[in-house]
Amino acid sequence: MKEIKRLLKYLRGFEAYYPIAIIFMLVLSVSQNFLAVVIGQFINIALDNLESLKTIIFLGGINAVILFLAKFGQDYTLNYLAENLLIRLKNDVLGRILYLPMHFFKNTQSGDILSRLTNDITNIQNFMRRGVVDMIMNSATLLGAVYIMVHMNLRLFLIMMVVLPVIVVIIYFLGIFVKKYTLITQHLLALTVSVMQEVVQGIEVIKIFSSEQREDRRYRASNQAYLEKKLKEIRVTALSLPLMEILGYTALLLIFWFGGKDVINGHMTLGAFITFFVAAGNASTPIRRLSNLHLMIQRTTASASRIFDMMNVDNPILKTQGIQEKKRILGTVLFDKVGFSYDTGEPVLKGIDLHVKKGEVVALVGPSGGGKTTLVNLIPRLYDCTEGGIFIDGINTRDFKLTNLRSHIAMVSQTNFLFSGTIAENIGYAREKLHQDLIIEAAKAAYAHDFIMDMPRRYETQIGERGVKLSGGQKQRIAIARAIIRNPSILIFDEATSALDTESEKHVQNAINNLIKDRTTFIVAHRLSTIQNADRIIVINKGRIEAVGNHEQLMETSSLYRKLYSIQFNN
Ligand SMILES: Nc1ncnc2c1ncn2[C@@H]1O[C@H](COP(=O)(O)OP(=O)(O)O)[C@@H](O)[C@H]1O
Ligand SMILES: [Mg+2]
Repeated sequence: MKEIKRLLKYLRGFEAYYPIAIIFMLVLSVSQNFLAVVIGQFINIALDNLESLKTIIFLGGINAVILFLAKFGQDYTLNYLAENLLIRLKNDVLGRILYLPMHFFKNTQSGDILSRLTNDITNIQNFMRRGVVDMIMNSATLLGAVYIMVHMNLRLFLIMMVVLPVIVVIIYFLGIFVKKYTLITQHLLALTVSVMQEVVQGIEVIKIFSSEQREDRRYRASNQAYLEKKLKEIRVTALSLPLMEILGYTALLLIFWFGGKDVINGHMTLGAFITFFVAAGNASTPIRRLSNLHLMIQRTTASASRIFDMMNVDNPILKTQGIQEKKRILGTVLFDKVGFSYDTGEPVLKGIDLHVKKGEVVALVGPSGGGKTTLVNLIPRLYDCTEGGIFIDGINTRDFKLTNLRSHIAMVSQTNFLFSGTIAENIGYAREKLHQDLIIEAAKAAYAHDFIMDMPRRYETQIGERGVKLSGGQKQRIAIARAIIRNPSILIFDEATSALDTESEKHVQNAINNLIKDRTTFIVAHRLSTIQNADRIIVINKGRIEAVGNHEQLMETSSLYRKLYSIQFNN
């Protein structure tokens, strides 16, 4: 229920619509049950004289018009609210996801996230569109029908009510079952989405390994697993309608038996009996639907909890940010006894002490898995160090406002995501509405201008999935231009040239050399040839700084460095 409450919070600001909806509901409740009264009166009075017949037909006609208007108004108002709620929810979900911590994205399959955004939202959507609107419409009918029945023959109404507890018990247990099963089936559905997504993203590997059939089987298997659980759920939920029908029938027979006796004994007119009977009929549809609705609510709360759980993930980095804001920084970086471990608890960095001067170029080398990427990711607080602290210009990075801290840092890694859009938009991603001259200047510094000018529409060329395909080296140079434009004081390259061929590497290397002037720079390098310009080389192994020095010094002092060096030059 707390999920439903939280969903309803999205209707804040729409309170003005509530009285309108309630008025429509009351009008509907009267209007929909009016027919029951009309039929009863028809039998009791109208058949005796023409004048009464005329009056009844006239009133019936007016009621038809009211019914039309009220139903339309109600339907529109409720759907208006439902659609607005959904849009607000969807906006809010993405708004939250954008601020979730890195470990959430590393630990959650993207297919699972997408499935929550689509399949679980669909469950809520169905509930809003059909469930809620239906529920309100139906309870309006139910309300009026109950009023009529109580008014006509209280005893008969109470007799009929003996089936109610049975209905409540059935609905209750079905609901528990459905909620449990929805959590399972939605999880299985998310797995199928993950498989589908991996097929799309990994299609090259699949084709090369000719593993189409294997992936096909994997997808079918995940669908089958979903189907089995879903059918199990359906076997139980499919019971709900027939059960309701049987109970409805029972109630009907009770009315016929006891009501019939009342008519025979003269305790009740035939017209009153008919009115009661029609009202009971009016009440039966909503009651039958209510059981369905309850199942829908359980399904919705399960889906809503999957969405809200995701939105509830805390981001401690956001919460612990400070208020320091600097327009410019010098760019000294101090690692003070830094230790770090991911959620797994394994220490990945241990006792890192490192003082990098303003404008210094520091190269990080070492065997893969040593912790180089982790180390540089700590500087913009993509992750927070678990021990010690990192100080920029003497200020703890935690004391900076996060956006301000990150505005001083640019990062280029091995693969850089480019957005769909034009080249100019991608280079200018740092800020909206950047002047064209700045973009071109940045592209020139990144050695990207020449190849961009060879493109069909130059800076306006569309790139990404629906546009021109760029080579790895071209992408890297655009990423570098994107970094330059921020004019950062601290630059981080994490294997920025590792994936490139020698020719592209030379271009990218030139771009990097252009960029690092007067900036504090960290270069994580795979190839030792790319770090000739470094002021200092740091050898990182198993989460520790193993040696520091320039090339000549390290060749003398570090056996690991000598090993890395000889491996590369024997190749
Ligand atoms: N998101 C993560 N969750 C858990 N462990 C991780 C994560 N990312 C990296 N690691 C582990 O941390 C260690 C250091 O990794 P990394 O910093 O990427 O090394 P390098 O960049 O030097 O190759 C490795 O043992 C790796 O398995
Ligand atoms: Mg790495």
